[in-house]
Amino acid sequence: MSHDLFLAAKTAMAKAYAPYSKFPVGAALRCDDGRVFSGANIEVASYPEGWCAETTALGHYIMGGGGKITEIAVIAERMPKVTPCGGCRQRLAEFARPDTKLHLCDENGVVETVTMGEMLPYGFAGDILK
Ligand code: THU
Repeated sequence: MSHDLFLAAKTAMAKAYAPYSKFPVGAALRCDDGRVFSGANIEVASYPEGWCAETTALGHYIMGGGGKITEIAVIAERMPKVTPCGGCRQRLAEFARPDTKLHLCDENGVVETVTMGEMLPYGFAGDILK
């Protein structure tokens, strides 16, 4: 069921621009209406200016009109079961729910599925700011 999401993340990873870390990452998000948005990490010679695959995918998701995110897949060529960095956990949590599935992949497919709540327990929620 999530294999297509894995494939979207893997296809995105092939487009990574990671000449400095040489650590390509791909991410894909699925909405409840079936749409899939994906992205890869993009690095910059001024290192802190680069950004993560999950962030690229979220940009595509927002520009595509957003919606409810039902599942997420992440893959890194050099690290089976890569997990989103802290900043990306917070960014993903902005648009996901604690029970949103997060598929951790290797080159062959999904290896482990966790939830966003497990990935970001006690995360900061911005409700009070609204
Ligand atoms: N990276 C991601 O794209 N997602 C993560 O969650 C972890 C790290 C990227 C950022 C940088 O381009 C490279 O991996 C090495 O840190």
